[in-house]
Order: sequence, then C-alpha cells, then structure tokens
Amino acid sequence: MSDDSRIESVLSEQRVFDPPADFAERCGGAWVESMEVYRELHEASVEDPENFWGAIANELDWFEPWTSVLDWDAPDAKWFVNGKINACYNCVDRLINMGHGDQAALIWEGEPVGEEGPEVRTLTYRELHAEVCRFANGLKSLGVERGDIVTIYMGMVPELTIAVLACARIGAPHSVIFGGFSAAAIADRVEDAKSETIITCDGAWRRGSVVPLKANVDEAMKSTDHVKNVVVLRRCNNEIDMHVGRDHFWSDLVEDQSDECPCEPMDSEDMLFLLYTSGSTGKPKGIMHTTGGYLVHTYLTSRYTFNLRPGQDHVYWCTADVGWITGHSYIIYGILQNHVPTLMYEGAPNHPDPDRFWEIVDRHKVTHFYTAPTAIRAFMKWGEEHPRKHDLSSLCVLGTVGEPINPEAWMWYHRVIGHERCPIVDTWWQTETGGHMITPLPAATPAVPGSCTLPFLGIDAAVVDKEGHELNPNEGGLLVVRKPWPSMLRGIYGDRQRFIDTYFSTVEGMYFAGDSARRDDRGYFWIMGRMDDVINVSGHRLGTMEVESALVSHDAVVEAAVVGMPHEIKGTGIAAFCSLSPAYQADDHLRDVLREHVAKEIGAIAKPDMIRFTDALPKTRSGKIMRRLLRDIAAGKESTGDMTTLEDFSVIASLRGDEE
Ligand code: WT7
Repeated sequence: MSDDSRIESVLSEQRVFDPPADFAERCGGAWVESMEVYRELHEASVEDPENFWGAIANELDWFEPWTSVLDWDAPDAKWFVNGKINACYNCVDRLINMGHGDQAALIWEGEPVGEEGPEVRTLTYRELHAEVCRFANGLKSLGVERGDIVTIYMGMVPELTIAVLACARIGAPHSVIFGGFSAAAIADRVEDAKSETIITCDGAWRRGSVVPLKANVDEAMKSTDHVKNVVVLRRCNNEIDMHVGRDHFWSDLVEDQSDECPCEPMDSEDMLFLLYTSGSTGKPKGIMHTTGGYLVHTYLTSRYTFNLRPGQDHVYWCTADVGWITGHSYIIYGILQNHVPTLMYEGAPNHPDPDRFWEIVDRHKVTHFYTAPTAIRAFMKWGEEHPRKHDLSSLCVLGTVGEPINPEAWMWYHRVIGHERCPIVDTWWQTETGGHMITPLPAATPAVPGSCTLPFLGIDAAVVDKEGHELNPNEGGLLVVRKPWPSMLRGIYGDRQRFIDTYFSTVEGMYFAGDSARRDDRGYFWIMGRMDDVINVSGHRLGTMEVESALVSHDAVVEAAVVGMPHEIKGTGIAAFCSLSPAYQADDHLRDVLREHVAKEIGAIAKPDMIRFTDALPKTRSGKIMRRLLRDIAAGKESTGDMTTLEDFSVIASLRGDEE
C-alpha cells in the first residue's frame, strides 16, 4: 500500500474491537486482563525498566546471578551484567527440571502428503534434549568451539531447531540463512561471519519439488574458502555430491554420540546469534543478538502477547521460516521457554491444496496462530471455502507480523479465521529489536484494524521529529525507541560505524527504527512504512540497492534503479528500471533472463515484478536518481513531485510511454 492511501485509511478507520468477553475463559486465563492493568504495568515498567525486567529475568535459570540489570551508555546496552546463562538450558533443560520432560516441546509436520497422510513428528522436552546433546557433541567432534560462528542453511525440519539449540548449548553463535537464498548470498554471509562450519540438508521440499540446498552450498563454496566442515542432513534423498574430508552426514556425526552434553555457561552479553538483514546499502548487515536480555524479552513477549498459558493444552503455530527473526524468537526461543508446544510446518500453505493450513489447525487443534499479512491476502484470494471446510474452533489468539496489515485483510482474518471470537495481535518489531515492541495484548487492548496499537511493557516507543520532540496526534514522524530494551541488537557484526549511523544518528540518543509512523487520538501507533531504501516484499525485507547491484552485475545492464510498487498480495512488489548496453535487445526474453539472474544472485524473493527498460534514469542535477518519481511511475500515478530539477524531461516521457 502506498503511504498516501495508508494515511487515508488511518484517518478513516473507526472500528474498534474489544477483547471478547469470554476470552480468558476460552484461553485458560489471561496474563494482562484489562487496559487498566496494562496502563499501570506499562507506566511502572517504563519508569523503572530495571526493576521490571529484573523481576522477569528471575523466572529464568541463571548459572550465576547478574550484578546489575542494565548498563546503558548509548548506543551500547548491557543487560543482566555479569550474569551467566545458557539459552538451550532455558528452552529445554529448565522445562525438564520443572517436571515437563515428557510433554511435547516440538510438533513437526512435513510437506509431502502420502497415502497415510503427512509425516508428523513430536519431540518431548526429553527427546529434544537427547537430540540436541547428540548433535552438540557431534559439532564438538568436528572441532567447533565456543565462540565459533556456525552457519545453518536448512529447510523447515526439526533438525533445524535441533541445530540452533545445539549451537546455543555449546556457545557457538549461529547464523541462520533462509533456505530461499542463493549460493551467492550464502557466500557473502559466510565470508562476512568468517564461518568455518555449515549445516545444511540435501534438499528442502517446496510445493512438491526439491530445492537443492546442498548444491547451493557447493556452489557457494567456490567463492569462499573459510569453510572446513559441511554437515548434511538427508531429507529429500535427492542426488548430491559429498566432498571427502569436508562433508559429513548428520546421521554419521551423531552416531555413537552421548545424549548428554553440558551447557556452556555463557556471559549474558555473549553473542547468541547473528542474523543478516537488508539495509540501505548493497551489503546485508549481520545483526548481533546476545544471550541474557534476548531470552528474557522473548520469554515475556511470547507469554504476554500471545497469552500462552502452560498446562492448558495450548498448541502454538507460527508459520514463518526459522531463517527470519520471527522464527528465531517466536518458533524457537520465546515459545520453548514458555512450556507450550511449538508447531513447525515444512512446506507451502497451498500444497497439496489451498486448505493445507486450516487442515493443520484442525488436526493439531492449534490454539495460537501467527502469520503475515501477505499470507492472509493470498488466503483471501484463494477463497473462504477453504478455511470453511475445517473446524477452527480451537483457535483463541491470532497474530500478524512483517508489514502493516490493510484493514480488509484484518477484517477477513477476524471473520473467516477467528470467527469473530479471537483477538488479533498486530505485532510491530524488527530483526534489530529481537522481540515484540508495539502490540496489543489480547485480553486487554481494544484492537483497531491496521494499527499495532500500544508499546509492550517496558518499551518507550514514540513518534518524534528530527530533534526528538514528540509529535501531536496524527502527525507523521520518525518511529523511535527512547530507552534500551533487553533484546535490542548489540551491533552490526564487524561494522561499528554502520551501527551508529543507521540506528543512533538520526535522532540524538534514541534508537531510530527506519520506519515512519503516527499516533492517533487514542495514542495508537500506525506504521506508515520504511523511510530508507528498504522495501518490504511479502513481509521480507530487501534493500533496493541489493537488487540494483544484482541487476548491474549482468552484462546487459548499465544502470539500474529499484523501487517498491503496490502489489495486491505481496504488499510491495519490486519495480526495476534498467538502462541497457547497446549490445542487448530490450525485450521480454531479456526481462526473463534478468529476473532469473537476480534470483541467482540473491534468491527468488528478490525477482523484480516489473522491469522497465529506459535509455537513461531520471536524475537530479547533482546526479541522484529521482526515486519518488520512479515510485509514482511504477504505481501508475502521474507524478506530483517537482520536476524542474530533472536533467532530462524526455526521460520521464519515454518511461511513461513504455508501458509493459
Ligand atoms: C520491518 C522489519 C519483525 C519480524 C518480521 C520483519 C515492518 C514489521 C510490522 C507491523 C507494520 C511492520 C516494519 C519494520 N513491520 N512488523 N506489525 N506493522 N510494519 O522483520 O525483516 O526486520 O523488518 O518490517 O517496516 O521496520 P524485518
């Protein structure tokens, strides 16, 4: 949705949905039961975050207590200073110690549906513990040590969660790369992280075909020589090459390993993981998260935002991929700590049929369902008859994340999936924030479709101008967080200056999220969109510069400019404007070639939806590409901007004329 049409819908949205009266009863109680309680808790928590977060942290298991809750010297935060803790211990061992060892921790469903239905695996905390320990010992046998960064490039299989937890157990930070990324993207990330170990699968199932993960790793290895060991899990039994000495089958590695492996006592501020995300430049940034604060924040947000109630037969399902922060925080770490089984589904929402998700909800009696607006829009398009075929009465909380949800999609979700009895939590947060920042609490916050409502407990979010002054209701400005929070990023791996420039230089002393936003008369937040050159395609973040670099790396393209454009399902689609080398013919064949080229350089999610060929790109006199103009052209709108600075008016004329 463009900023303009979003502003219109913000100002016109009047519907308010109170939490259903029988919510607590249906959901086995409520953690934060009313707006009064929320307001009281929020005020106290923001006034004294150390007291608030300290009390929550006490619910986790620490090997050694912290000496102070927070040490803040902007932009550097240290939480639970000197505390010693292990993430895997708190997700697995702690629950076993509490007597829940034989209860389900992880429920997994594979994509292929055979004669007997899909493959389903359930791992109890005790079984998960044994698998994690065996694999952790396997990693150690390869020489992986505390502090070594391990790259994980797998499909959505239980072993992905096992691998993540095994790394956490031995203190080796993981760097998970989404399985949809290309060989080139793997190579970049491995180089940046100087990672010597990769864990992968032979292939991953996607809509009945096999994504060749191992072959992509092999390809990536041609352009980096850091990697000493590749661990390969057999999943699809597709043909693969194994390099003697470098490659090891998962099954061989865990054979004969003990199912006991001690947890490394990590410092609260030791790195738990790196996760690469796109920014304004062509180079993805490795966002660093540490251990103690991240665990505390994801623990509490999972519990309160979703109202997870241990012992109530809850089954929680987040449809994201573990390759994104949503999967890290709200498939693995936050949920496992809460003693509610987390469901992982391997495949596509419409395989073999468009009702696959609803069939899963019905069969597993899912109570909590967390997905993205882009998925909801796809479901709307496929039709109500698919969810209508299934019993969705187990559901009690619905969540959304990744991009602003348009009110139509919100209403459909509420009506068709939630049967008007499930609160929807629209959670605003980022890779950098580690966990939820602005979100309704399901038993407390009246929802307004399209608004992520109010800050989570302990979060001091605001909309300000460049000087840091808070704006009046309905004035658009910069979305900032004024106080540190436990799961905030601790830096960009290997790039201190970029960390400061990106997040702590726009508004003095505050974290700037990169989003613009406004608050309405109730104080509710409305996210307007990114202010940098980042676009949000199906809830996946992409830098326009990354796509531009991929395009110009092809011989045909001399210059490229990439902007977002409205897209019915994806929210934002990718529009590319390219000028060509004279040796190439501007035709549909070349469009296909370039789309494939981008997929190869980055991944299929980065394929342009529209490619427009042009003799030259519109630039200002100082040589800057006029992106706003290109956005208007891509959206099919007449440009409203000032064009007098254009170097060549004819460029625009020809761009407009050259419709695809
Ligand atoms: C950007 C962060 C957080 C996990 C998924 C994306 C946008 C995210 C919302 C929301 C409006 C949202 C923002 C943000 N965004 N959630 N509920 N409403 N916008 O993580 O890839 O780091 O992207 O996604 O623009 O800055 P990410």
